Amino acid sequence: EVSNDKKDIYEFGVKIGSLKETDETEEKKSYKGYQLWKLNLDSQNKSKVVITLKNNNVLSTWGGNRTSIDVLISRPNLRTVQRRLDENLINYKVLIDDVQEAIDDENPPLNPEEDEELANRQGHRMTFDSYHRLSDIHGFLDYLAVTYPTYCKVYVIGSSVQGRPLKVLRISNGNSGNKAVWVDGGMHAREWITPASVSYIINHMAHNYDSETHAIRSLDWYFLPVANPDGYEYAHTTDRLWRKNRARGGYCTGTDLNRNYGYRWGGAGGGKNPCQETYAGTGPFSEPETAAIKDFLQRTSQQWRASISYHSYGQYILYPWGYDRKVPPDWTDLQKVAEQAATAMRQATGQYYTVGAAANTLYPASGGSDDWAKGTMKMKYTYTIELRDNGRYGFVLPASYIVPTAKEALAALRVIGEAAAAT
Ligand code: ARG
Ligand code: ZN
Repeated sequence: EVSNDKKDIYEFGVKIGSLKETDETEEKKSYKGYQLWKLNLDSQNKSKVVITLKNNNVLSTWGGNRTSIDVLISRPNLRTVQRRLDENLINYKVLIDDVQEAIDDENPPLNPEEDEELANRQGHRMTFDSYHRLSDIHGFLDYLAVTYPTYCKVYVIGSSVQGRPLKVLRISNGNSGNKAVWVDGGMHAREWITPASVSYIINHMAHNYDSETHAIRSLDWYFLPVANPDGYEYAHTTDRLWRKNRARGGYCTGTDLNRNYGYRWGGAGGGKNPCQETYAGTGPFSEPETAAIKDFLQRTSQQWRASISYHSYGQYILYPWGYDRKVPPDWTDLQKVAEQAATAMRQATGQYYTVGAAANTLYPASGGSDDWAKGTMKMKYTYTIELRDNGRYGFVLPASYIVPTAKEALAALRVIGEAAAAT
């Protein structure tokens, strides 16, 4: 077993680093009595009411688009919010009537036999019927690199604020001059379905590499399942609904990594106040996590053709731009491939995904990884894919949805890969 020093970071019983700072003293946050409501917003005025409530910390916003928004409300604020909504004729429905109960049911613990089997298992502890801690995900990547050394390789591309490694798995036939695709998940800590789905994709591709199409095998695939490892662990240990990384600002913690990229950084939708959920950081790439990704992508002499960043939730396939309600010159190509991806997802599992440019479809937000991949790195096919669901569970998606969601994610990735190979 691991040592008593909680500041040390272990993977597979081996110390791989030490936390520079630690969140260990914090008590686990309870969402007892919190509710998730879906609000209908059919006028500017109604949106303003919600923004005011949000700015006054009476509620926090989850997913949303131009016509509706899901909001999280603590028990003491329920009546206030209800009154304000009624006054302004805003319709709503309750999606989750006790968020803590949903959290408790989301990730059922392994039964003792399964746990023992995993403990004794040689190699790795990954499964796709529960959400795993960072060490299981990283251990799984290491296992694949050992098991399939001819085409799987692990890169540690940097480390997080607290010193956790950023681990990338490359799947490649090893030929030089291949076109490359970047795939990440877990940029937002609470979007647990995304590291799980990226792990599933990796598992599938590694085990079935020889039967993949020529196009898929002609690409170098780079997978970063957990782009925000500190936040991801914090969401497991302390606050299930944490979004940002764990950088200590002056009076609040965390930068939104998807507002911290350097293309048109600091514009609309990026927070200036470190207490905001969308705080953009002190400057472009101020965070070690985004800086490591940038450096890796720019240092590696790869012909980057596509990038897929998995987020949740809402079921969208989004392409640039995110910073403004505009589209790039080749947007019809992006739209066409996104529509093909959406079709493939629907054929895989029957689920519908909405396609569109990010700012037009959701809301303008600058400093996103997609805009940087397109604007600075000139990757042609750049997407943010918001996985399940549509707001029934939101971020607290039960683990039984991992496999079907990951199948969709894989179906979309294949379509985008084929397009990337054809560039
Ligand atoms: N839900 C994602 C976010 O808020 C959407 C990002 C879309 N891309 C963008 N550049 N705004 O981070
Ligand atoms: Zn996200």
